[in-house]
Amino acid sequence: MDNSTKELTLENIPNHVAIIMDGNGRWAKNKNLPRTKGHQEGMDAVRRVAIRASKRGIRVLTLYAFSTENWKRPIEEVRFLMQLPSQFFNTFMPEIQKNNIQVQVTGFTQKLPITTRRAVNRAVKETQDNDGMILNFALNYGGRAEIVFATKKIAQAVIDGTIKTDDITEELIESSLQTSMLGEYQNVDLLIRSSGEQRLSNFLLWQNAYSEFYFSVTKWPDYDGDSLDEALLEFQKRQRRFGSVQ
Ligand code: FPP
Repeated sequence: MDNSTKELTLENIPNHVAIIMDGNGRWAKNKNLPRTKGHQEGMDAVRRVAIRASKRGIRVLTLYAFSTENWKRPIEEVRFLMQLPSQFFNTFMPEIQKNNIQVQVTGFTQKLPITTRRAVNRAVKETQDNDGMILNFALNYGGRAEIVFATKKIAQAVIDGTIKTDDITEELIESSLQTSMLGEYQNVDLLIRSSGEQRLSNFLLWQNAYSEFYFSVTKWPDYDGDSLDEALLEFQKRQRRFGSVQ
């Protein structure tokens, strides 16, 4: 079959899809609305995409909801973003449960406001027995900060004598990262960024080493299940070689 007319199959679905949900602010600006309205609409896009991802058999969906750099935004916007997780879980927990989705979180969560932390921890706890897709929110996450943190932890173990420098392997580094709870699905297979920007923005630097990149011009509040399917179809057309030849 001609590659351009290929249809989505449920066989070659990426295990770990990570999304940089970009374009909320521009979406709102184009409609003469405050930026927060873009984030509000973005919350519903999270629901739409998570449900479709779980139906497609994706094992882990990691969403970049707040970066370690996002604190630089105006205080009202930061406040709004910080209450979104509780709003999201209060509204959609029944749907999350119905779809057997397990909630997880990645990032420096201890620095989040207590109300945000409580909402997220509660959602993690309430869904811990679900064995469907992991919906992993990257909150106060930064790839470089994550690597620095892991490096310090490993250096301390060398100083303490619990490991030798020769014990530092890729596996040890992976087990020291904030995504270690994802086990065999820790590394990203498909990275999606919405809104037409083409950058990684400090997102899962280690974990994206061999991922396929897909950039969509759709702004995040307009992103939906069909947008995800387009990215999955494109993924199925790619040939992954992991540095080898084919
Ligand atoms: C980037 O768009 C988006 C964010 C920094 C926030 C992402 C958050 C959501 C989509 C809602 C998350 C929902 C939950 C449940 C946590 P931008 O504001 O940088 O857009 P711009 O580049 O157009 O200004």
